[in-house]
Amino acid sequence: MKKLCIASTNKGKIWELKSLLDGVFELYLLEDFGALPEAEEPFESFLKNAKNKAKHYAKFTGMPTFSEDAGLCVRALNLFPGVRSKRFIAESGGEQNAFARLENMLAAKDDRRAEFVCVSVIFDPQSGQIFTGKGAMQGEIRFPAQGASGFGFDPIFTPVGYQQTIAELGETVKSAIGHRGKSVRALLKNYREKMSS
Ligand code: IMP
Repeated sequence: MKKLCIASTNKGKIWELKSLLDGVFELYLLEDFGALPEAEEPFESFLKNAKNKAKHYAKFTGMPTFSEDAGLCVRALNLFPGVRSKRFIAESGGEQNAFARLENMLAAKDDRRAEFVCVSVIFDPQSGQIFTGKGAMQGEIRFPAQGASGFGFDPIFTPVGYQQTIAELGETVKSAIGHRGKSVRALLKNYREKMSS
């Protein structure tokens, strides 16, 4: 089985990604390589950030390295926070404060539609090959926050066709209908097609 390092420092993501990639690759985590300098996310594009992270960490792992960039895009806020989701939570001083800020920003807006976007990348430092996959999940933002599963904005996001938030629906549903599951499945398709041609 081929080796793959999951290059993420987000525990919620690692949990989800392991369940999606286990059995396909022999998985490693960044902690297997000691303390590494954290990758930056300077770009206004999920794809560019994901590639940047995979290439950064592959310098240290020396093996095919998986990275992804994800975020919540709110329609009425011009797709904000989007690629800035992580910074938005950090600058707000944590998730609860970020939820409160979003609630304020949406107070005068009727349109609560939003989508989660995830772009996944595998970079192979030996061959220089890059494999990519994108996934999205449509839904709407609802307050107050509900549910304890998942991470990030999951407690305020209700997917289309459901009445509960992702944090209430749980990991099995999230993996089946969520942006990360779709993104990783598209990535694996791209990987298998390129490897067999
Ligand atoms: P990044 O991809 O590490 O830059 O993460 C961006 C931020 O978006 C995370 O810190 C989360 O707050 C949020 N985010 C990304 N994916 C999800 C998700 O699946 N559920 C909820 N929030 C997410």
